[in-house]
Amino acid sequence: MEILDGKKISNQIKEEITVEVAQMKERGEKVPHLAAVLVGNDGASLTYVGSKVRSCKKIGFESTLIHLPEETTEEDLLKQVHQLNNDPAIDGYIVQLPLPKHIDEEKVLMAVDPDKDVDGFHPTNFGKMALDMETFISATPFGIMELLKRYNVDTEGKHTVVIGRSHIVGRPISILMSQKGKPGNSTVTLAHSRTKNLKELTLQADIVISALGVPRFLKADMVKEGVTIIDVGITRVADDTKEKGYYITGDVDFDNVSKKASFITPVPGGVGPMTIAMLLKNTLLARERHNN
Ligand code: GUN
Repeated sequence: MEILDGKKISNQIKEEITVEVAQMKERGEKVPHLAAVLVGNDGASLTYVGSKVRSCKKIGFESTLIHLPEETTEEDLLKQVHQLNNDPAIDGYIVQLPLPKHIDEEKVLMAVDPDKDVDGFHPTNFGKMALDMETFISATPFGIMELLKRYNVDTEGKHTVVIGRSHIVGRPISILMSQKGKPGNSTVTLAHSRTKNLKELTLQADIVISALGVPRFLKADMVKEGVTIIDVGITRVADDTKEKGYYITGDVDFDNVSKKASFITPVPGGVGPMTIAMLLKNTLLARERHNN
């Protein structure tokens, strides 16, 4: 069994980007500038956005955090989005999800300029991804593909079962895994809450990608020997014995499933850190595109 070490690989990617940014500086070019918009005070979102901004500083990017109050109106948020679209200093930006219930998420994501949409959530970018065109691929599926690539996991002709059909992870990773390429060329089954006999499907899988958000859902008796496991779940489970009052766990019963797996991502330290690295990579791409 080999651990797919997302922390290690994400550090490698960040080091590679750091070198490129240093070279940009030496050439007297503008360095990439990422902005993040956060509405409200959701604990997990505060952590993620803080981590994204800190990573920018570490690798030499400019970064701007726009933290708006929970009561921000949709109209005001849309104004902020238009301002970022029109600000030449900003190469790319994200609007952290989830947004408060009174704001129409789709409307906001549609307003983001696709050329600055480093999250790859705009329909133009999602469509390009689905058509194999060059674009911003969303950080989580992009991170999974990069992890498989750097560990040389063979996906060709393999049966990949994706659990979860979210727009951010399940749907896009099912498309990417079926596309021509390395990694790719996989036969994909996209399972979701209405799927019948899920266990029958996962037992046939060479690769399982779980993006469900249900702690320890995937058990050892649901997978075959030699399976590759990608665990996208990051759930906070309340626990008073922990300093933070919770611990983080994935969708996979790691202790038991890892005994049968050939490759497996841990939680934390698997897919999570990769998403930040790929967001930075997309921001670098945005800068390069704006330069050309
Ligand atoms: N919320 C959970 N994941 C993401 C992400 O990748 N981007 C944004 N903007 N919000 C998220």
